[in-house]
Amino acid sequence: MLQIDFHAHILPGADHGSDGLATSLRQVALAREAGIDLLIATPHFYPHLESPWAFLERRAETWACLREALPADAPQLRIGAEVQLCRGLDRMTDLEQLCVEGTRVLLLELPRDFSVRAYEQTLDALLYERKLTVVLAHVDRYAPGTVDFLLELGFLAQVNAAPFCRLRSRKAALHRAESVQTVALGSDIHGVSTGYTEFLQMKRRLGPTYDAVMARTAAMLGL
Ligand SMILES: [Fe+2]
Repeated sequence: MLQIDFHAHILPGADHGSDGLATSLRQVALAREAGIDLLIATPHFYPHLESPWAFLERRAETWACLREALPADAPQLRIGAEVQLCRGLDRMTDLEQLCVEGTRVLLLELPRDFSVRAYEQTLDALLYERKLTVVLAHVDRYAPGTVDFLLELGFLAQVNAAPFCRLRSRKAALHRAESVQTVALGSDIHGVSTGYTEFLQMKRRLGPTYDAVMARTAAMLGL
């Protein structure tokens, strides 16, 4: 079974997840020590702050910087992005380049002001016109009423490790992970202070469900 961290901020200087190459290499080393086979690098992309072209150029530079420095025993890395939803996102010409490398899988973050009514057309077009597989980032952060509605429509879910480590959120996170619509787990690693401690705790708490979600991630990515 491949162990995949689907959500990681590990590109040097690409966002606030890593302040430079030394931090990124430490993050990658921590992932390896935790048994991760494949890391999806998902720097934040905020379409209201930056053009996709500028983001893609910046991401390519930081990825090249990290790739050249990776040790031989590093987990595999694939490039993606954590894309914040905005109205009209479905019309962005370079949207496929924001998907996980080699796939049509997009990691989508909902904005603070999210309401289904305000984003309905964009969401509909992402699925049915652009025909993307849209994975909602860290669904554990959103109100169940909102997320459940989207999952019924065909969106998929990624769950973060952190809620498994807190008493108040553990039960809901376990319930989420058991759902077949949950296709990915993520460290959402920023910096190195927490490292993979929470990810490993999540793995222990999930037991066989962890393996089941990893199998779904691998299938979604065509691995
Ligand atoms: Fe994130």
